[in-house]
Amino acid sequence: MPRTCLVTGAASGIGEATADLLRKQGHTVIGADLADGDIRADLSTAEGRAELVARARELTGGRLDAVVSCAGVAHFDPLTVRVNHFGAVATLDGLRPLLVAGTDPRAVVVGSIDSVHPVDPAIVDAALAGDEEAAVAASRAAVDRGEGHLVYSSSKAAISRWVRRAAPTGAWAGDGVPLNAVAPGVVVTPLTRPLLDDPGTRRLVERSVPMPLHGHARPEQIAPLIAWLASPDNALVTGQVVFADGGADAVLRGDGTW
Ligand code: NAI
Repeated sequence: MPRTCLVTGAASGIGEATADLLRKQGHTVIGADLADGDIRADLSTAEGRAELVARARELTGGRLDAVVSCAGVAHFDPLTVRVNHFGAVATLDGLRPLLVAGTDPRAVVVGSIDSVHPVDPAIVDAALAGDEEAAVAASRAAVDRGEGHLVYSSSKAAISRWVRRAAPTGAWAGDGVPLNAVAPGVVVTPLTRPLLDDPGTRRLVERSVPMPLHGHARPEQIAPLIAWLASPDNALVTGQVVFADGGADAVLRGDGTW
């Protein structure tokens, strides 16, 4: 049964591969991105987030069957928490009414293996409190003290915890909408290519994200998991952060999470 799906970050990397796969499966895909696709919107801003929802309503008549939030950046900068956490929450919350009007609705957001790395609790707490300016201030403080790398891990930990909190509530489970995160390890995309091309940073990446199964991934290897979580076949999986990381989480956290 063809579905109508909206994918953010659809112009590149994991979002592009997911949009391609969903189209190959016969679904209609509305692609959203900064400067490309059916909807052009900057998800770091309130205006861009409102534009996403308004244009999605226009294009779909107010009904969506799946939303996949992939848009993200990895800068040592407060912009990262604006896009990766607040942009994703605005995408999912803003489009939820369209999902509720859809058929077998599903929502997926792309987290990261980085969510298990050290984080800055001030950024995560502010993000989970929904206080964007406090999260931005905490991110700026982390950058100023030379810990800008914590902004990315914190943004991904926050969105993962948001999924855990939101998924079982009346707004999601109660309305029959599974909500999950997919947490990739290292995927070769424009986001990571500069890090992988430099031998020094490549060694750092390999140490911090060990991937014993198959090594670094291609976006096409992440897309099928996202597509399945976004499909009617996923009846019961919700509130999960599913690692697609070649074993990195198992190496980094061992069996202590159980
Ligand atoms: P990418 O850079 O290839 O694609 C990201 C897309 O998001 C781009 O098309 C970009 O224009 C869009 N985007 C960025 N800022 C935006 C904004 N303000 N508004 C709207 N769109 C915006 O990156 P990739 O690797 O495909 O990343 C996709 C997601 O996967 C991100 O959330 C990233 O954090 C996550 N991820 C990536 C990993 C990797 O190793 N590549 C690993 C774990 C998670």
